[in-house]
Formats: sequence, structure tokens, C-alpha cells
Amino acid sequence: MTGFCWRKSGLLGDMEEDRLGRCRSVKEFEKLNRIGEGTYGIVYRARDTKSNEIVALKKVRMDKEKDGIPISSLREITLLLKLRHPNIVELKEVVVGNHLESIFLVMGYCEQDLASLLENMQTPFSEAQVKCICFQLLTGLQYLHESFIVHRDLKVSNLLMTDKGCVKIADFGLARAFSTPAKQMTPKVVTLWYRAPELLLGSTTQTTAIDMWAVGCILAELLAHKPLLPGSSEIQQIDLIIQLLGTPNENIWPGFSKLPLVGQYTVRKQPYNNLKHKFPWLSEAGLRLLNFLFMYDPKKRATAEDSLASSYFKEKPLPCEPQLMPTFPHHRNKRASGTGAESQCKRSKP
Ligand SMILES: Nc1ncnc2c1ncn2[C@@H]1O[C@H](COP(=O)(O)OP(=O)(O)O)[C@@H](O)[C@H]1O
Ligand SMILES: [Mg+2]
Repeated sequence: MTGFCWRKSGLLGDMEEDRLGRCRSVKEFEKLNRIGEGTYGIVYRARDTKSNEIVALKKVRMDKEKDGIPISSLREITLLLKLRHPNIVELKEVVVGNHLESIFLVMGYCEQDLASLLENMQTPFSEAQVKCICFQLLTGLQYLHESFIVHRDLKVSNLLMTDKGCVKIADFGLARAFSTPAKQMTPKVVTLWYRAPELLLGSTTQTTAIDMWAVGCILAELLAHKPLLPGSSEIQQIDLIIQLLGTPNENIWPGFSKLPLVGQYTVRKQPYNNLKHKFPWLSEAGLRLLNFLFMYDPKKRATAEDSLASSYFKEKPLPCEPQLMPTFPHHRNKRASGTGAESQCKRSKP
């Protein structure tokens, strides 16, 4: 791992250190407890013994990589180190383990993720709180999309929240950069619930619109306090979408009938949009925003900017201030450390 330094501060300035390529060792971090184990890596709450700071340490799995880190991953990490936004989790530096195949991402620590929070909360978020979370999510996403990054895996377990009510998008880009070929992943591992219809139907062009579909699913999930479209197979996922929004056609979605997988499914005929029945209490502006996020045609779907301008965020109840978000118990830290006995969050692995 020589010649290899990804310290944020060292990126542009500290040339000496860059040349020497000193990359800190993970030994400089005291692992406190495991907070998450997702598809691609284990995440620990840890203490930086040099600065005393509490951080999140994500071990990146690279089982299939025999020759070190793939160049695409290097590019991705370099890119992520440059991203700075209050609503994007901060990747501080990359440190190495004893072997070339283990590297760790050091990130700013966030006390909650929305999945474990939703699972453990006694009372659902109020609408003002939901708006506060979504507005922050959209603000972070606008920044990501402006930086030409599509997240591709937005879901509640990839949204973190600090005790100060600041929402941060996490786990972005990495899923793709560090992934083994997509074919080897079973549908059970890769979440379907937030997947846009164009992806389910085999479209290979992945635009920022796939993230916006996921935002629609997240907004609806926060409002209803349960996942909106919890499909357990791709076919069931498509079916759930159609039950909710009606059958797409060439008129509302030009190009739909030519999507690679359309012929493989017998798409049922369902002419109604049932969003209003699902959310009878939601205002017109709220329903308009949801419908805009759930446009079948990715080209017509709301962008982050469109969504931020929605009157839903300007009408009562107004989004609450992040600082006024309640603080919640730190459920993840109650788990035994390092035993692997922590309960798997069912939302993170639908
Ligand atoms: N910076 C962080 N602060 C606090 N918890 C985190 C942080 N990053 C990740 N986590 C926790 O670890 C879990 C898995 O991390 P994530 O980056 O989503 O990896 P994976 O690719 O394994 O899903 C998250 O759902 C969250 O609970
Ligand atoms: Mg994740």
C-alpha cells in the first residue's frame, strides 16, 4: 500500500506526505462496537486514538479482488473524498488493514440510521418531521446529482441522522464500485423496494431519475410508517407498482413497450392511480409531489430541484427545524460489540 495516501487534508496540500504515501493503519482506531453489517461491509463505531474523535469505520469487502483494489474503486474513493456537503456523509480518509485486501473508510459518525430508527420508534414521525428529513435528503441529492453522481441505492438504511437532526446520505456509489458482478447477487440481497420501474424492466441507462423514484418510496414510507412497495421478487415488485399507480403504456411513457424485459412479464391491466386511496389524509400538494416522483417516464419524473420547489414544503405543517428533531435512543450501540449477535435490520436487507 505504498504510494497511497487518501487523507482528506493531504489531497492537495501536504505533498510531502503524499509522496511518502503514508496511509494510516486501522490499528490507530479503537473499535468500540459494530453498528452495521450490510451487503458490502461491516461498519464499526470507533475512536481515532490520535484525535480522540468518534468515527464510523467501514471495512470494505473485496473478496473477489485478487490483485488489490480495482481502479474504478480508487476513482470512486478519490471522488468521494472531494464531496463536501452537510447532507452527505463525510468520508474523512481511507486507512489500511494488515493486508492489501482490507481497506477501511473512515467516516463522520452519525448516531442513527433511518431504518433502525423507524424500526424502534414508538410513535411515527410527524408530518413536519417527515418534511424536514425529506428536504434534507433532497438537498443532499441535488448536490450529488449536480456533481454527476447517481446514488443507485437510496433506501432508509442508507440515510443517517445525527443527534442534531442532520440527515446524511451514505453508502453512495460504493455499492457499484466495490461490487462483484451484479449477476451474482440474489434479489434478496439487493433491495427491490426502492427500485425504479425502468430498472425492473431492464433499462440499461441509469439516470438520476432512479434516485428520485427511491425518494418517492422513502417519502411515502416515512409518511405511512411502513414500506410502500415491499416486493419479494422482481415480478411482484412490478405488480405492486402497477397496483398502486396503474399500468404504464406508450402514451404516458414513450419507449416503454421497447424496454428489454417488457415481453417477459404479463403486465396486468390496472387503470387506476391509487395513491390518493393509500394516503387519504395527504394534502393536494403532497399527492402532487408523490405523483411527480412516481412518474413512470424517467424523463418526466421530478428532479431534486423540482421537488425542493414543491409547495408541499411551503404549506403547513412546515418542515421542522433539524435542531428541533427529537433525539432518539442509540439502539445500535446497545448490541453486544464484536459478537456478530446483533439483530439484522430487516429493512436493510429486504
Ligand atoms: N457514518 C456512519 N455513521 C453511523 N453509522 C453508519 C455510518 N455508515 C454506515 N453506518 C451504519 O452501517 C450500516 C451499513 O453501512 P452502509 O454504508 O450502508 O454499508 P452497506 O453497503 O454494507 O449497506 C448503515 O445502515 C448504518 O446503520
Ligand atoms: Mg447500506
